[in-house]
Amino acid sequence: MADKIKLFVNGVEVEVEAGKNLIDAVGAVGIEIPHLCYHPALGADGNCRMCLVGIEDGRPPLVPACKTPAMAGMKVLLDAAHIKKIQHDVMELELINHPTDCPVCDQAGECKLQDYYMAFDQAESRMNVPQVVKGKKMDFGAGVVHDQERCVVCGRCVRFCRQITKTGELGIINRTDDARVNIFPGRPLSNRYAGNVVDLCPVGAMTSRDFRFKQRVWFLKKAPGICHGCAKGCNITIDHNREKYKDDIIYRFRPRLNEQVNGYFICDAGRLSYKAENEGRLTEARLGNKARPIDDVLAACTREIERAEKIALVLSPNCSLEQMAAVQALAEKLGAFLSGYSDGYIKPGDGDGYLIQDDKAANRAGLGLLGIDCSREAFESAVQQAQLLINFNNDLTRSYKESDLKKLLQGTKVIAVSSHDTPGTALADLAIPVASYSEYAGSVVNCDNILQSFAKGLSKNNDLADICAIAVQLGSPLGSPKERFALLQQSISALKDLEPDKIPAQGLNLNDSEAANVTA
Ligand code: SF4
Ligand code: SF4
Ligand code: FES
Repeated sequence: MADKIKLFVNGVEVEVEAGKNLIDAVGAVGIEIPHLCYHPALGADGNCRMCLVGIEDGRPPLVPACKTPAMAGMKVLLDAAHIKKIQHDVMELELINHPTDCPVCDQAGECKLQDYYMAFDQAESRMNVPQVVKGKKMDFGAGVVHDQERCVVCGRCVRFCRQITKTGELGIINRTDDARVNIFPGRPLSNRYAGNVVDLCPVGAMTSRDFRFKQRVWFLKKAPGICHGCAKGCNITIDHNREKYKDDIIYRFRPRLNEQVNGYFICDAGRLSYKAENEGRLTEARLGNKARPIDDVLAACTREIERAEKIALVLSPNCSLEQMAAVQALAEKLGAFLSGYSDGYIKPGDGDGYLIQDDKAANRAGLGLLGIDCSREAFESAVQQAQLLINFNNDLTRSYKESDLKKLLQGTKVIAVSSHDTPGTALADLAIPVASYSEYAGSVVNCDNILQSFAKGLSKNNDLADICAIAVQLGSPLGSPKERFALLQQSISALKDLEPDKIPAQGLNLNDSEAANVTA
């Protein structure tokens, strides 16, 4: 627990964390000091002067809050007339050459320049000379579009490429009102985290080619989620909307702060993985290749289960812990072999030691914690002996060539319980559509052994069932979330004394308590 200190803001005593600068210290207790160039992940640059505050202790009349550590007993002034004047003056300076783009700017609604103009300026322009003309719609590469005229030259994007990705593609060239951000000739943005400059940009100077003009941001609903693009489990905000007469769809993923997992950023592949939540989905139950009512298909599945002497089950390493528990209980009830074989989800050498992992699955650690066998040999031997394979969302075409998969499945009936219509699903005799991870609640354990819970993010017009519910329909005895959590408590000791809704927002670090518990 960080040390606390007391200081005064506009004469009111507040208790804040020691060791932070004034922006972060008082920001944490709900007092906003306006700022443009400072970002907690990039440090203080001190170039925008928007954060100037007064300190009543004999130092210069105004100091930048981003470069001033919070100290016990400090008397900070935010609302004095001379501070309001400087905030107004900085806004006027920023807006001298700023185009009147708000109606067509993607950042409108989440733009610091708009917010601060309304809060501190609200004055008409006094300029009667032509504005400086700079580059518009510049293709910076990696899906980033730059507008030099909207830029307030805060340098966040430049510092991100220097300090975080260490690729240095961006620079600020020229001076004074001709200063502008640019790429070096022939060297576009080419790092795997470039999309973060769009989030970092406090104004509409960096926009995403993928998101531009798709939605006005004030229409978007926001849901907290966990990226399932790899084993890191980065925290994301799912921005979604249901337009009139249409379905609820996702328009973008953005990073959500979790100091323990991903900090402030996500990778570009994860950012764009929202598309797979919208597209390529299995939406109808099928018997053979014909669509049938789900109840008919479930009844046919039950008949197949009764008929089969030997059954094998396979799970996706992306399934939540709760889904794994429900399917594990089903396997036990059916006397079936349960596998988590999924080598094809691993891309050796793709991880970068920062966020991106080789393992493109969100919950392989969960398979280990529940003691689920993941070996290829055991999976293949079980399939060869079984008359029926029930596949819970494991895209086997990631691990096998289609022809090899067909050979392996010869003589075995397949029930695919699947969120997506993959070539593997097309090989199944029966197919049941289920929700994907943005549409159900659950928990996953990441590559650093951090257990994170997530809530259901969006509801479709025809909400599909969670795998847990389908497992129950097929015979799993774990009918309620409480029963599934109880089974997880047996396997994961850190959960023993916890209520399901008491998993910390930053995740539960299992490292200390679970190391001895992993059985596979
Ligand atoms: S493009 Fe955005 S982040 Fe980069 S310097 Fe300009 S305003 Fe700042
Ligand atoms: S690093 Fe992995 S979990 Fe994080 S955003 Fe990228 S794909 Fe998603
Ligand atoms: S935030 Fe302090 S000078 Fe820009």
